[in-house]
Amino acid sequence: MAMRQTVFTGTLLVVILVATSLNSVLGQADFGYGCREADLPNEIRRDCHPEPNASEGACRERGCVWCDKTETWPGFPACFFRDAIYEPPGLTCDTGYHPALDRVDCTTGDEPIDEMSCRYRNCTWCPSLPNANIPWCFQSAALDNTGYQVVGQPVNTTNGIVINLSKTFNNGRRFWEGEASSLIFEAEFQSDYRLRVKITDGSPRFEVPLEIQPASGGNANPLYEFQFTPSPFSFRVVRRSTGTVLFNSAAGKLSFADQFLSMTWNLPSENVYGIGENEQRKFKHDFSERMEWPMWAADQPPYHTTALYGTQPHYTVIERDGNVHAVAIVNSNSQEWHIIPGPMIKYITIGGIFDMYFFLGPTPDDSVAQYTEAVGRSQMPPYWGLGFQLCKYGYDNLTEMQAAVDRTEAAGIPHDVQYGDIDIMHMELDFTVSEDRFGGLPAYVQELKAKGIKFVTILDPFISIIEGPDYRPFTLGEQMDVWVKKADGTPVTGRVWPRDQTAPVFFPDYSKPSCQEWWRILIVEFQQLLAFDGLWIDMNEPANFDSGDSNEGCAANRWNYPPFKPGFSTQNLAEKTICPDHVDNVSIHYNTHSLYGWFESKPTLVGVREATGKRGLVLSRSTFLGSGKWTTHWLGDNWSRWSNLHYSIIGVMQFNLWGIPYVGPDICGFIGYSNADLCQRWMELGAFYPFSRNHNGKGNIDQDPAVWGPAVAASSKTALEVRYTLLPYLYTLFYKHATGGSAVFRPLWYNYVSDSMTYPVDEQFMWGSGILISPVLREGATSVVTYFPDNRHFDYYTGNEITTRMGTLTLAAPKEVINVHLAGGNIIPTQEHARNTEAARNNPFGLTVVLNDAGSASGSLFYDDGEGIDTHLNGQYFYVEYSMMSGSLTSTVVMDGYPDMATKTLGTIRLLGFGPVTSVTVNGVTTSFTQKPNGEVNLTGLTLAANSEFTIVFS
Ligand code: GLC
Repeated sequence: MAMRQTVFTGTLLVVILVATSLNSVLGQADFGYGCREADLPNEIRRDCHPEPNASEGACRERGCVWCDKTETWPGFPACFFRDAIYEPPGLTCDTGYHPALDRVDCTTGDEPIDEMSCRYRNCTWCPSLPNANIPWCFQSAALDNTGYQVVGQPVNTTNGIVINLSKTFNNGRRFWEGEASSLIFEAEFQSDYRLRVKITDGSPRFEVPLEIQPASGGNANPLYEFQFTPSPFSFRVVRRSTGTVLFNSAAGKLSFADQFLSMTWNLPSENVYGIGENEQRKFKHDFSERMEWPMWAADQPPYHTTALYGTQPHYTVIERDGNVHAVAIVNSNSQEWHIIPGPMIKYITIGGIFDMYFFLGPTPDDSVAQYTEAVGRSQMPPYWGLGFQLCKYGYDNLTEMQAAVDRTEAAGIPHDVQYGDIDIMHMELDFTVSEDRFGGLPAYVQELKAKGIKFVTILDPFISIIEGPDYRPFTLGEQMDVWVKKADGTPVTGRVWPRDQTAPVFFPDYSKPSCQEWWRILIVEFQQLLAFDGLWIDMNEPANFDSGDSNEGCAANRWNYPPFKPGFSTQNLAEKTICPDHVDNVSIHYNTHSLYGWFESKPTLVGVREATGKRGLVLSRSTFLGSGKWTTHWLGDNWSRWSNLHYSIIGVMQFNLWGIPYVGPDICGFIGYSNADLCQRWMELGAFYPFSRNHNGKGNIDQDPAVWGPAVAASSKTALEVRYTLLPYLYTLFYKHATGGSAVFRPLWYNYVSDSMTYPVDEQFMWGSGILISPVLREGATSVVTYFPDNRHFDYYTGNEITTRMGTLTLAAPKEVINVHLAGGNIIPTQEHARNTEAARNNPFGLTVVLNDAGSASGSLFYDDGEGIDTHLNGQYFYVEYSMMSGSLTSTVVMDGYPDMATKTLGTIRLLGFGPVTSVTVNGVTTSFTQKPNGEVNLTGLTLAANSEFTIVFS
């Protein structure tokens, strides 16, 4: 076992009341970087640079105030948070200094409140800077001024350390009901790169039943050091190689009450990404002002800081020196994350425990690989799942669906998957097909399959209870006792889609084995009615059009109306869902609400695989940590607005960091009318989402790519043909994810982390390391400002080399063009496009070799039957590595377990960045080639077996 040093750093800052009026603070303070002693009393300084060797430069970089009076005032920090100077330190408030961080709002959110009504609630009134987003009326902290202290000796265990903590309460009064007077803090050194920190109060509390897989490697040389301060207790995670403090919980108060757990920590930089699911409008968090990001699975169209469908308590940080780490908190309760200048994060959850995992990287790829190793990696999508998918809510009948399919076909637009939404059901009832409107659908699905188009259909969780004995989903559900229950043991009733939103429904409890089995049976039987290839599980937050039980609402108790409700768009926890005190097999809904879709995902995949005998596809709206093991995700009911193109890139990049790489939004937007210009640009961008589906909301005008006329149809076709050509590369990226955890759709910094200019870039993105995509995101724009990192880049279409490096270039982007560039050092496998992947899979492969400064490149190709289950685990696949060095391109077959590969050919080689070529030999035989004035070399008409090893020499 590794020996670790525990570092005691002595007492922290003591807070002393000082007589400085609010006016003097507001009137004179230099809120920038001034050093006016009178305005910035030492007593309220909160250390922004607790690690040694603070300097003015380092301090300012953190956005903190530098005011070095350490000679006159030893012990007070020279570098401290600006936040502190916003605080009126005493006189105007009734109980003393109240750090903004520790204020827990006494209001319900938006209501205006004055001093009198605040005091009436027994809360503290302490005005702060207007608009600083700090509550003025908050629960008094005077009851708790000691914090937790270490008691006894910390115990070194085989794999970590256990520390007992305790806290005394003034007059025995607790700030929160059920606040723990003693805690058990455990740090577990799970591997050199993975640290777990768990804080419990020793009582049985809810823990998410997420299986964390063991980490590989030992823990003899940890990348981190764990440190703590005993009084008041705080802990730090330090990167050993650099001394960077990755996490310091001394930034605020540690609270652990039954329904209020909170911790605040300092971050080592402002380069923070993640925390969701919500609609973030910048990929990199903005620490210039306080922002709150709530989580509580919700049937809620994306609107900025509102909580959306999934819960992903996970963030990634690029440290100042380019090292990267990630942190995940395994907690499913309603929670909120505050982004606070400093930079700091304040975390509040209203149940469960603190269960935190630190993934030390140090590269971006490492941090995703380590995280996905823990929670599970995403399934390989079926090959057809990488093709273009078409959907609409509101096809009134089969004829309308057929018309959209036919339009797409007539325009020659590649099309791999057609969807059925709830329209196809009989009265919106799961596992049915409407006979009058979609009577011909089962036969049509067969027709589509004959053309190579797959069919995915929707299932909602809700089961109507008034259909009589012939409706098997209900009768079998009754028999197998599968429903979520009320506290009295009877099923919860809600109202969602069935019978035009009028039928009472029950909610399946997917956490229960009998329910999982019931769902599996129904899915398998449903295949007899409709030969679906995949399933789309929607509304699984779970949504409910009533709030709480339809008949009874929610009882007045502490679960349904907790003392603290994290802020999100809804009024109470039961809004548009069931009651928190409703009961499932695992716990009360208060704890498991945000796991509802997560519990549904695995049985759905099991059912799809059994029903189809193939890999299948499950598309889920609600996700939690590790959902990628079973499902893919789309970004929900987005808007047909230009801004949503940008947000979609952010969303897809986030899910890639969260280990769910196969993601995309509704192309052309779900809510509202799309239009030709918007849809044209969105189809171009959409050709580069890992999950590429055009989906539309009910009542909107049609928005399939062919409906807008020849211009949009043609540019959609062109962009999708580029996608289809590149599918072998995309598929290989998914293989790399499934086996090594890498992200597929990446921010630029993922590949160029030493270049801090890439950190804010979120209007461009990359496929793997090889392809840089720079879409137009603004109405009317016909050029795009593109950042090129430090590498050679070639225009995908022309092969022209870009000379700009580590700088921006304005590129022409006529309406019909999306800019795509190939990055040096990569060999990109391609295959000639066709109307769908079934056809394209028979076409010849190609290789695009893109040389770097050293004149070399490498790449690989994973290929299999595209639909078998776990082929990559069973050796039923082909895998080849390509390398080019000193003019010689070679292939090395690593696995030849897919026999059909021998029947396919490698037909073309495209070489970029080589220089003048006079001769080319393929396996020693001189071969003809062409070279363009820009240097691009092309070999065409090759007939190499795709699984053969070869050497091609350019000289
Ligand atoms: C939800 C889904 C949407 C779907 C609709 C009808 O709003 O998010 O994609 O079309 O329900 O099923």
